[in-house]
Amino acid sequence: MIEASALSKRFGARRALREVSLTVHAGELVAIIGPNGAGKTTLLSILAGEARADSGGVSRPPEEIGWVPQQAALYGRLTVAENLRLFARLERCDDVAAAVERMLAQTGLAERAGDRVETLSGGNRQRVNVAIGLLSEPEALLLDEPSTALDPGQRERLWEFLRGRVDGGTAIVYSTHNVQEAERHAHRVLVLADGEAVYTGSPRELEQTVGASGLDFEAAFVEFLRRRGH
Ligand SMILES: Nc1ncnc2c1ncn2[C@@H]1O[C@H](COP(=O)(O)OP(=O)(O)O)[C@@H](O)[C@H]1O
Ligand SMILES: [Mg+2]
Repeated sequence: MIEASALSKRFGARRALREVSLTVHAGELVAIIGPNGAGKTTLLSILAGEARADSGGVSRPPEEIGWVPQQAALYGRLTVAENLRLFARLERCDDVAAAVERMLAQTGLAERAGDRVETLSGGNRQRVNVAIGLLSEPEALLLDEPSTALDPGQRERLWEFLRGRVDGGTAIVYSTHNVQEAERHAHRVLVLADGEAVYTGSPRELEQTVGASGLDFEAAFVEFLRRRGH
């Protein structure tokens, strides 16, 4: 579904990504985990076509990939429906009205369609954000720290929704620094540290790699990074 090969990116002397490769299949949920500054946002924004890699390639054009950035570029003084309509036009959806209706229904926002975005709770704002990423019905969706601003109930609803998409065949890649969330909601994790992909596999395999008994995933993750010198 998405194949990224040897992506590298520098910011001045800083190497934000060092030859990171990632393959994501249809119906797969992949978490990118790693400390702050590891390169998670850089990787996702390159996959989304928002940033350019210095080298390496992505198999799928950005128009075919939905993107939910951490900072939503929503217009607070416009209503939910107006925001969706605006983005549907920007994305050149064939049928703007139908795309807006579909996303309002799917994300449970129909009742709030006429409300200004600035009046919404963080959870509902995030729904609008996700709805925008899905307007063009992409087969792959990228989300940068999607649950950071959500409370536990909102988080659960977000994951229920995303799992539904994955069951329908959508490929989802998301970043988080919440390791437990990756363990719960990912088939596979990519661990980034200082711009380098240091592990890819299931959370369970990472625990086995570390080998220490009685460690939960978070402890195993920290121990894994420590042994790798991070
Ligand atoms: N626009 C930028 N200009 C300069 N440095 C940047 C820029 N964006 C990211 N970086 C640097 O690249 C590294 C990776 O950042 P980022 O991808 O945002 O990490 P993460 O999302 O994992 O926290 C960090 O050291 C960060 O300071
Ligand atoms: Mg980030």
